[in-house]
Amino acid sequence: MLAVVQSRYGSAADLEVAERPRPVPAADEVLVKVAAASLHPDVWHVVTGLPWVLRLMGAGLRRPRNPVPGTDLAGIVEAVGSRVTRFKPGDPVLGETIRGMQWVNGGAFAEWACVPESGLALKPPGLTMIEAACLPTAGLIASLNLRHMGRLKPGSRVLVNGAAGGVGSLAVQMALAEGCSVVAVDAADRLEWLRDLGVQRTIDYRAQDFTRCGESFDLVLDVPGNHARREVKRVLAPRGIWVIVGHDHFGRGMHKVLGVLPRMFGLMALAVLDHNLPRPDFKMPDKVAEMEYLRGLAEAGRLRPHVDRVFPLAEVRQALSYLQTGTANGRVVLTP
Ligand SMILES: NC(=O)c1ccc[n+]([C@@H]2O[C@H](COP(=O)([O-])OP(=O)(O)OC[C@H]3O[C@@H](n4cnc5c(N)ncnc54)[C@H](OP(=O)(O)O)[C@@H]3O)[C@@H](O)[C@H]2O)c1
Repeated sequence: MLAVVQSRYGSAADLEVAERPRPVPAADEVLVKVAAASLHPDVWHVVTGLPWVLRLMGAGLRRPRNPVPGTDLAGIVEAVGSRVTRFKPGDPVLGETIRGMQWVNGGAFAEWACVPESGLALKPPGLTMIEAACLPTAGLIASLNLRHMGRLKPGSRVLVNGAAGGVGSLAVQMALAEGCSVVAVDAADRLEWLRDLGVQRTIDYRAQDFTRCGESFDLVLDVPGNHARREVKRVLAPRGIWVIVGHDHFGRGMHKVLGVLPRMFGLMALAVLDHNLPRPDFKMPDKVAEMEYLRGLAEAGRLRPHVDRVFPLAEVRQALSYLQTGTANGRVVLTP
């Protein structure tokens, strides 16, 4: 099969399209004929090997352990492993190829890929394959931070900083689906489509500092994390929660060695004293249930990724270069 191959850490220029053996599913895996696979900032992290700590965390010390990048796909089930019970050949699916939250290559940028059964869901008929490929990782991150860490409740007042990005835009839609009022912060030219979805108000981060907007929120979901704790507290209700996702802006954040990890661990330690920070919880939510949550919302027409550009697999270098300009207005997707 044709696949994108990364033989060393470097840049988009180090990616090749080459012949690779078609993967064989393990007992708990499903082989999927890939129709679309999405790019996201973590693909950039593993292609560049930055921050360096990811090489110690499973990605591969000297070179990527799995040479085929990509973690998010949509396609048609081709074959199933001996212990798989929920899917059969011919099913249209969307899924995340990696297990847990890892900074590793997942093999999705190929004509065929294996996905653990727990990371798959049936594709909602209302989503195209291209839209469906944008849902898994971004949706899982949005749900983890919003619903589990942020303890989202129906009717909460929510602010999403970085609301037009891959994770933020799904978080906005999840909060709206819960009947929350949502204020969306991002660059003005990206926010129009979120207004159409029903956000209460938008704030252009280039023109206004949201921490001085004079309002009070039960939950601030902060993707870029560009404000200090004391600044965000200005807009938190007394029991309000501030959850940071973190973003290195394709190396512009200059966190080359440990990435955003020191700040995250610092905030986790502070959470013992500060009730505006989420309590550290190392138990990950059940992935099957999370994938079903995403499928259910999308099937109900409440969750739809916003796609900017689609590139053929052979143009993976251009696709990654485009993503890292930070100018995409929506997701960037590859089609084999
Ligand atoms: N999307 C995924 O599937 C995925 C997968 C794995 C991990 N993640 C992680 O999740 C995080 C977020 O990813 P993402 O896909 O949502 O990123 P993204 O699509 O790049 O979105 C980030 C958004 O935040 C905006 N932003 C930047 N600076 C801002 C500021 N100062 N104030 C307000 N908004 C600002 C950006 O606008 P500008 O372009 O104007 O800067 C952009 O719209 C990253 O750390 C990423 O590694 C995401």
